Amino acid sequence: MRKTTVTTDISEAATQLLEGGIIGFPTETVYGLAGIIDSETAISTIFRVKGRPSDNPLIVHIAHPSQLDDVAAEVPELAWQLSSALWPGPLTMLLKKRSSIPDAITAGRETVAVRMPAHPAALALLSAIGQPVAAPSANPFGCISPSQAQHVLKYFDGKIPLILDGGPCQVGIESTIVGFDGPNIIIYRHGSVTAAQIAAVTDARCIYKQSGPKVVAPGMFPRHYAPVTPLLFSNNIQELAQLHSGKKIGLLHYGEHFSSNDIVASYSLSSSDSMEEAAANLYSALHKLDNYGLDLILVKEFPMEGIGIALNDKLKRASYQQ
Ligand code: TXA
Ligand code: MG
Repeated sequence: MRKTTVTTDISEAATQLLEGGIIGFPTETVYGLAGIIDSETAISTIFRVKGRPSDNPLIVHIAHPSQLDDVAAEVPELAWQLSSALWPGPLTMLLKKRSSIPDAITAGRETVAVRMPAHPAALALLSAIGQPVAAPSANPFGCISPSQAQHVLKYFDGKIPLILDGGPCQVGIESTIVGFDGPNIIIYRHGSVTAAQIAAVTDARCIYKQSGPKVVAPGMFPRHYAPVTPLLFSNNIQELAQLHSGKKIGLLHYGEHFSSNDIVASYSLSSSDSMEEAAANLYSALHKLDNYGLDLILVKEFPMEGIGIALNDKLKRASYQQ
């Protein structure tokens, strides 16, 4: 394939999509690798280029809540409540799918994952093409997610025709994924929308569906978001640094900071102790540290509250050692 174009031109991106091409596009969470849902070629190319197992379904992105009825056969009242309170935004809902949604997108499941992203360029693109796009995050399977157009280019240069550049992602970590079970809302993946935010706009009870290390359910792979450099994640990184003295260490810090001879690179995730700012910076910092030729990356655990729950979940998966 010829060189990948990086552009801010929405109509060029729309043309590529409508011709059945797949493109990198910005959302407020992370960049996605998008194709229109009724192009079999586009969907199979997404799986091939990403190296994604075909049993791991894709999220369908829509421009407006009114498109929910086009993709979902049933939309429970709780889903309408969440969509009007939290969309556009980093919340994905699992709903009974319409038969028109190709099985390749949902990996043969009865449910389809749907999200209306908040990034203005994503919304403009979706409105311009007038139909939903399926998109996983734009990273090879298991690798660090992309929060800038340059990350997508590094992964897929020459493999996709175009990347729509919408600047750095403002939220920085993936959407929260929820499903519905009668009066309950099941959280399948922690993201930047918290259980407290969901509880504040519905009367539902929120339940987190845990997966053990052996139970590999979609969205819950034990190893994910991982840099090539080994990453260790703990509440006491100073102790870890001592334990690994003599190694070339990179540090991602939030709040607590320290230096030692072994620490050759160090990034602050937030200058103001804001976990939201830390989330927006996390993947960029991991991409940078992963290019340093380090022996080890150390990251301190976040407080288990608010978006810290999702951040710790991502870091746990990034540090998983098989
Ligand atoms: O923030 C996000 O959600 C980003 C942006 C691009 O929208 N997308 C994203 O997609 O993170 P991806 O494919 O990297 O993660 C989506 C997760 C996968 O783990 C997949 O297994 C799960 O959603 N998923 C998709 N459809 C599903 C379904 N029908 N049932 C259960 N899980 C599903
Ligand atoms: Mg992903």
